[in-house]
Amino acid sequence: MKRSASRLRGDPVVVAHLNEYLSYELTGHRQYLIHAGMCRHWGFERLAKLQDAYWAEEVQHAAKIIARILMLGGAATPRELRPIAGAASVPEQLALDRTLVMQAMVHLQGAIADCERLADYVSRDLLVEMRDDEERHLDWLDIELALIEKLGPKNYLQSQLG
Ligand SMILES: [Fe+2]
Ligand SMILES: [Fe+2]
Repeated sequence: MKRSASRLRGDPVVVAHLNEYLSYELTGHRQYLIHAGMCRHWGFERLAKLQDAYWAEEVQHAAKIIARILMLGGAATPRELRPIAGAASVPEQLALDRTLVMQAMVHLQGAIADCERLADYVSRDLLVEMRDDEERHLDWLDIELALIEKLGPKNYLQSQLG
C-alpha cells in the first residue's frame, strides 16, 4: 500500500478525474459503436459514418487518457461502465448521445479546474483538448436535433437515406 502510494507521481485527485473521464470515453465508445451499427442497418449511411468517426475518436481519447494515468504512476481503473441503452430510433440515439456528452462536459469542467489548482498543466491541457472535442460533438448533435425539430422526424430520416 505504502509502496504503491510512493510511486504515484501525480496527484491522486488528478488520477481519479482521469479515470472518471476514461469511463465516459469507454461508455461513449460503446454507445456510438452500437448507434453506428443500428444507423447502418436502417440504411442511414451518412449518420453511420459520422457515428463511426465518433466511436473511433473515443478510442484515441481513451488511449491518451490511459497513457497520462500511467505517466503519473497511477493505474487505469475506470469506474464500472455505464449501461448502454440501445435507443430505438435516430432521434432517441442523438438525444442519448447528447446526455452523455453533457455529463462528460460537466465532469471535465471540474477536472480541468482541479488540474489547474494542483498545477498539473499537462493533464489540464489534455482535458482541455478533450473538452474541445466534446464541444464539437455537442454542436453537431444540436444541429441534427434542430433539424429533426424543424423538419419532423419523418422528413429528417427521409433526407438521411441513401
Ligand atoms: Fe466523449
Ligand atoms: Fe472523447
